[in-house]
This record gives sequence, C-alpha cells and structure tokens, in this order.
Amino acid sequence: MTVIAIDGPAASGKGTLARKLAAHFDFAHLDTGALYRAVGLLVLRSGGNPEKAEDAVAAAAKVADVNLDDPELRTESTGAAASKVAAIPEVRQILLEYQRSFAAHPPRGKKGAVLDGRDIGTVICPDADHKIFISADVETRAKRRFLELFGTQGTNEEYQKILAELRERDDRDMNRSTAPLKPAENAHLLDTTNSDIEAVFERALSLING
Ligand code: DC
Repeated sequence: MTVIAIDGPAASGKGTLARKLAAHFDFAHLDTGALYRAVGLLVLRSGGNPEKAEDAVAAAAKVADVNLDDPELRTESTGAAASKVAAIPEVRQILLEYQRSFAAHPPRGKKGAVLDGRDIGTVICPDADHKIFISADVETRAKRRFLELFGTQGTNEEYQKILAELRERDDRDMNRSTAPLKPAENAHLLDTTNSDIEAVFERALSLING
C-alpha cells in the first residue's frame, strides 16, 4: 500500500495535484477538506453555529449523509464554515478514523491512496510514503480563485473580498491548537507561486519517483 499525503493552504492547487497524481498512479483519492465542508454545510443548513462545539459535533456524526459532489460544498461560505468546525478537536477526532481507514484500505481494491488536506502528513498519516506541502503566496492564490469564479469579468472589490477571506482562513487554519496547518518535518515543500499545474505535477512526480 502506498500513501501520498498532500497538504497546503486554501486554493494552493493541492486538490488538482492530488487528483492528477491519483489518476497517474491509479490510486484512490480523498479530498479531506470535503469532509470538513460537509460538516460545515450541515451546520449552516440546520441553522446552527459552526463555532459551537455542540452544533459541529452533531453535524459531524451525520457526515455520511452528505453527497460529497454537492456543488454547495465548494462555495466560500461553506469553506469558511468548514474552517470553523475544523478548529474543534472533537470534530477532528470523529473524522480521523474515516480518513485513516481510507488510507489503509483504499476503495475498489486500489493499491494506494492520495489524501489532500491540512494535517495528512502530520496527524492522519504520519507514516505516509510521500509527503508534499504545497504553497503559494496569498495574492497568487486569491488571483487564481478569483479567475476561477469570475473569469475576466470580476471587479477589484470581488478580488479584495476573496483575498480577505483567504487571509482569514489561513490565519484560522494555521493558528488553531489542534492539528494546525504546517509542513511535516519530512515533507517536500513545493512553492507554486510561479508555476502552472503541469509544472507542479511534473515536479511532484519526480519527488515521488525519486
Ligand atoms: O481544502 P479545503 O479548502 O476544501 O478545506 C476546507 C477547510 O477544512 C479548511 O479551511 C480547513 C479544514 N480542513 C482541515 O482542517 N483539515 C483537513 N485535513 C482538510 C481541511
């Protein structure tokens, strides 16, 4: 069994890289952010408060009810709620076993798994065969997200809003006390500020293939 851990901040391109690596090696892929997003969305839908442990834990217990392809999972407001529920240790604990078991027994008999998130290399799979920490400066990430959402039609106001939201999410994800976003000691660092996804993919492949 081969496990590849990809961690990094919001909008760093880790999901795209993880999907490309999984397709290349024919491994299973788990977007662990989608699990936190599902918990955040359940809390919002039930009118609860994502910062309240009681609401977030009740939602985490029902995470299996959420369709992980629901487009509402991808919105910025769901992302912000996800980042809030993710700071609650009991929520992380509930989602931990699911993630570890996916890595140990990938679905459909696949011979390996690629997991992307914030704490895969540090907490979920500390013994992963390969660990990559992907990052890019916050303005670059905001610009990518902005182009994705608005194409060339966006306004400066919209860009500034995305930038502020990313900064807020980075701050929360990096400074929480349980499993904060940080590179594992033995992770390869990949800065994508000046690279497109193809270059990042090639670089990751050469790190993995040694
Ligand atoms: O990767 P993403 O933007 O979909 O993640 C949404 C939020 O979920 C993110 O702001 C923090 C949280 N998260 C986490 O704490 N640990 C993970 N392994 C994955 C996501």
